[in-house]
Amino acid sequence: MGDGEKVTDQIDFLTENARTVLERRYLKKDASGKVCESPEHMFRRVAAHIAKAEKNYDKNADIQKIEDQFYRLMAEFRFLPNSPTLMNAGRSLGQLAACFVLPVDDSIDGIFEAVKNAAIIHKSGGGTGFSFSRLRPEKSKVGSTGGVASGPVSFMKIFNTATEQIKQGGTRRGANMAVLRVDHPDIMTFIRCKSNKSELNNFNISVGVTDQFMDAVSQKGDYDLIDPSSGKMAGRLSAEAVYDELVKQAWETGDPGIIFLDEINRFNTLPDIGEMEATNPCGEQPLLPMEACNLGSINLTRFITQKESKSELDYEKLKETIHLAVRFLDNTIDMSRYPIDEIDKTVKANRKIGLGIMGFADLLYMLEIPYDSDEALELAGNIMAFVQKESHKASSDLAKERGSFPNFDRSIFKDNKDPRRNATTTTIAPTGTLSIIAGCSSGIEPAFALSYVRTVMDNDRLIEVNPVFKRFAIEKGFYSDALMEEIAENGTVKENLNVPSDLRSVFVTAHDIKPEYHIKMQAAFQKYTDNAVSKTVNLPHDASPADVRFIYDQAFETKCKGVTIYRDGSKDNQVLSVSKKE
Ligand code: CDP
Repeated sequence: MGDGEKVTDQIDFLTENARTVLERRYLKKDASGKVCESPEHMFRRVAAHIAKAEKNYDKNADIQKIEDQFYRLMAEFRFLPNSPTLMNAGRSLGQLAACFVLPVDDSIDGIFEAVKNAAIIHKSGGGTGFSFSRLRPEKSKVGSTGGVASGPVSFMKIFNTATEQIKQGGTRRGANMAVLRVDHPDIMTFIRCKSNKSELNNFNISVGVTDQFMDAVSQKGDYDLIDPSSGKMAGRLSAEAVYDELVKQAWETGDPGIIFLDEINRFNTLPDIGEMEATNPCGEQPLLPMEACNLGSINLTRFITQKESKSELDYEKLKETIHLAVRFLDNTIDMSRYPIDEIDKTVKANRKIGLGIMGFADLLYMLEIPYDSDEALELAGNIMAFVQKESHKASSDLAKERGSFPNFDRSIFKDNKDPRRNATTTTIAPTGTLSIIAGCSSGIEPAFALSYVRTVMDNDRLIEVNPVFKRFAIEKGFYSDALMEEIAENGTVKENLNVPSDLRSVFVTAHDIKPEYHIKMQAAFQKYTDNAVSKTVNLPHDASPADVRFIYDQAFETKCKGVTIYRDGSKDNQVLSVSKKE
């Protein structure tokens, strides 16, 4: 029976952008490059493949029933798995995870092994993170040749070039994260390695800072540099000078970000297995070396219900979706073909999954709550606490059917009476493409703009308006094309007298929001997230390095696991901008 014959339910809506993205990169194509799969077929293909895992645990499982549940989960856009699952499930590649961390050992063999493994992972649509902290510093001696070592940054260029050459199976460009510990002797070279904006374009970089370093910054003291090849002290630097340079570079180019290594490892559920030294490319998933993780995101805009003519979040429906999504992601681990044996073993021993949310900013619009308000922070905490609690419960329930993850007895859960199927369950991903497919705002980010003007081929101007804003504008009678064009020009409704005053504070966009609210929101979500949170703190073009430093300090104090800032206009190839600034 062909895929098509099983499809009974139509998906209920798909924006034009979603259709374009799916056709370009997700749907099956025939030998001539023509799309030969509909979005419904894609969801059916994915649901059927992921449901097959049920047979591993129960020979009599009603696979069709589970498949239909998974299908509806996706086709109703309540939940979507990360892109590699949508692209590869039930197809020849079969690699379903978005996030990998690979070790880089201090030897030519070790380095090139990692280059090769990264290439294999990129081909399958996954992103890779590396810690380069084990590589001996530039100019140190190489025993076998008597020559001198090139150092981490120089080797990163090889990874960068290899990534450039591999267009991920024709689907997406490879993405990498490089982390270097702040006490590595090459730290200053690393901090500046992206100051030339045309270099290392396939890398995000983050400095791995420690509590000790942050203490030294606050006391304006020096700290030790350690040569990883000998474990010996290799110099001292002023913590303040390093921090200032880091801040200055981030202010200029957006890179480097920071990850807080000690905070990450305080939440390592498997400290006896190893230490976490790096994250995936967008920073939301710290992992052990040779570990991978499947992510999935719940679209909050699908959980609104009307009670006494007021909109509210339907927690019962959310609960049901969380439990089904955890089952889906746990199945994904069994159904994914991991490209490297050791990764396959690690993933199946720890069974980490990363369930998160998207559409948070749209949800706030629907509930008429300003993003930059205490009410929004409280809602963020409530939602994520709920997702975390229910996903842990779902993982325990699954463990009762399927057993705990094999490394359970070596995990921090070993003395709990409840079993656990997964070493972690929650992560907040950027949902760069998933949110386009689902037609909602991405991850926990505020909307970038309420309306855009797109110029299409023959210079026609198309106005695209945030769907929630458009609905309000029509309902409240203030919609006009001219107004939407004006809003696209200005990038804000804050002082627009044609928009009712109560809505002006609700429909805020990224640049209306004070940078410290971005961090407050990240911290509110992080508090209830097992892994980490993807968030970019947007700063206006005229923000100062001191503003960046304040954000970094805040991120540390409020127990974020990392921080990424972006100052408007600081990158040449900025992806999103409001038309005024073009
Ligand atoms: O929305 P989608 O599932 O496509 O991805 P995302 O949530 O924006 O990104 C999640 C993760 O996918 C990133 O942190 C990377 O690990 C990986 N990714 C990648 O490898 N290459 C890309 N071009 C985009 C994302």
